Amino acid sequence: MAEIIDGKAIAMARREIAAKRAAEFAARYGRPPGLAVVLVGDDPASAVYVKNKKRACADAGIASLEILLDASTTQEELVSHIERLNEEDGVDGILVQLPLPAHLDSRDVLLAIDPAKDVDGFHPYNLGGLLAGEPSIVPCTPAGIMRLLEEYGVSPSGKDAVVLGRSTIVGKPMALLLMMGNATVTICHSKTRDLPAKAASADILVAAVGRPEFVRGSWIKPGAVVIDVGINRTPDGLKGDVHFQEALERASLITPVPGGVGPMTVAMLLENTVEAAYRRIGRSPGL
Ligand code: GUN
Repeated sequence: MAEIIDGKAIAMARREIAAKRAAEFAARYGRPPGLAVVLVGDDPASAVYVKNKKRACADAGIASLEILLDASTTQEELVSHIERLNEEDGVDGILVQLPLPAHLDSRDVLLAIDPAKDVDGFHPYNLGGLLAGEPSIVPCTPAGIMRLLEEYGVSPSGKDAVVLGRSTIVGKPMALLLMMGNATVTICHSKTRDLPAKAASADILVAAVGRPEFVRGSWIKPGAVVIDVGINRTPDGLKGDVHFQEALERASLITPVPGGVGPMTVAMLLENTVEAAYRRIGRSPGL
């Protein structure tokens, strides 16, 4: 029977550290770190995520600025909001909640964000730094997963890691971070042949495919560490990408949904915001 990773507890501890650093920043520099969250349209899941991020900022002493835009907002309007936030001194981080409505080009929107304020780490400049082995701002979800592994004493070094999903938000940066931790990494996607066999080779399996209970227990190597990034709304409630009950019987460690990876993503966003605030004034936290 697997041990269940308590993402909530670890996230709360990280949030306290971020809060302490934010308070130190405010005391020294006369203003708190600031995060602008841009939400376009009325996707209900996105609205919940944005509300959670806003509350987390308030708890951590980070000033948050919510920019709520109508679903009919044009590309030009959205980019001009971002350009204004790029110039605003009290704004250290800018986050554009994804997905955007279909008529907007998320690539061009993300390119408009000043890389120094890109607390999601989605700008090609920051993703390029990660690829070059010189990470600055790392995407929150994979960064949070690395932190969970560390907290539970799981070193990726020498392990076989399999990442299911090749998104720019999770799969690709996850694979890079695991590789930087000296794992041997396989990235699987919709065209991968014999997914169950590939998954079954994993000492560390990260599922980020967005399909409820897609990964079955029989795909999991006994004793593997299973990280479930999925948040799928189904008629039976919130489900991960992994069949949790089956996986419990095979894994040594597993993240639940909810309460696993999700809370870490928010905690890392706070850390990235505080870090960006210090970097913008040429300092690092704690120095
Ligand atoms: N949508 C789903 N996950 C994320 C995330 O980490 N950041 C942003 N901006 N949008 C998302």
